[in-house]
Amino acid sequence: MKVVIPAAGLGSRFLPATKSMPKEMLPVMDKPVIQYVVEEAVASGGDDLTIVTGRSKRALEDHFDLNPELSAFAGLPGMQALESLSDRTTLHFVRQRNPRGLADAILCTERHVGGETFGVLLGDTINLCDPPLLRQLVDRWHALGSKGSVIAVEPVAAEKVSDYGIVDGPERSPGLWEVRTLVEKPKPGEAPGNLGITGAYLLSPGIFAAIRQTPAGHHGEVQLTDALRVLSTREPVYAAAFSGRRYDIGDRELWLKTNVEFALRDPEFGSRFRVWLQGQVG
Ligand code: G1P
Repeated sequence: MKVVIPAAGLGSRFLPATKSMPKEMLPVMDKPVIQYVVEEAVASGGDDLTIVTGRSKRALEDHFDLNPELSAFAGLPGMQALESLSDRTTLHFVRQRNPRGLADAILCTERHVGGETFGVLLGDTINLCDPPLLRQLVDRWHALGSKGSVIAVEPVAAEKVSDYGIVDGPERSPGLWEVRTLVEKPKPGEAPGNLGITGAYLLSPGIFAAIRQTPAGHHGEVQLTDALRVLSTREPVYAAAFSGRRYDIGDRELWLKTNVEFALRDPEFGSRFRVWLQGQVG
């Protein structure tokens, strides 16, 4: 399966940390976020990955490349895991010259993805799911007759709807909706429901034509949510609940909370860290 990982966003909520470093390279414990995303794509059956980058994003390519200067450290478990990950997939990089939105970033991969149904995982979101989240979407899609598109959703609190694409439609079976309405980042009180798009998608190739026909929307950018609305008038778009947890590291509070959660679970120092943290909060 081909998987597209958009990672071209400016990371403006993280400035100045992201002035010359991609936000997708921010570490959660000892791994950059992009590595978790690539791990999920590969664990879901992705064998051909395209990361959409932009200016100041070269570190993303370097992370998955060989570095002979570090050969003395090649035996470290973390380095071996990264090497084996890079070996198990083919990685492509394409640059979005102008950061004109998520849908525009995906459109940059059209010639590579071609006419196949493909996965999309956002480069700044970690999903800890078993089975992996994209695999859960693929399984849903097969159960639906291998037609249409499937996007992951989860309920979001009323005061958070403006941070998400929100969808609505009839529930076809428990945890599976046929999408009829999609709104990108609605104002509070104007959301069609509480199902938020979490950033994992299995998309039919029809999305490319839909993107080309989608005008700029929220923030003056071409939004994937708007393109999915165009697509939903032509072919089925399903929203699926999933089992597992999602960690968005898009701003410093979310990133820090994610690090604390992962640190508490760390087999080496999690219990020590818990004691220290309890001491901090009294
Ligand atoms: C993007 C999508 C939005 C989705 C969100 C999930 O927004 O446009 O529909 O709900 O990811 O994180 P962003 O967070 O990049 O602004």
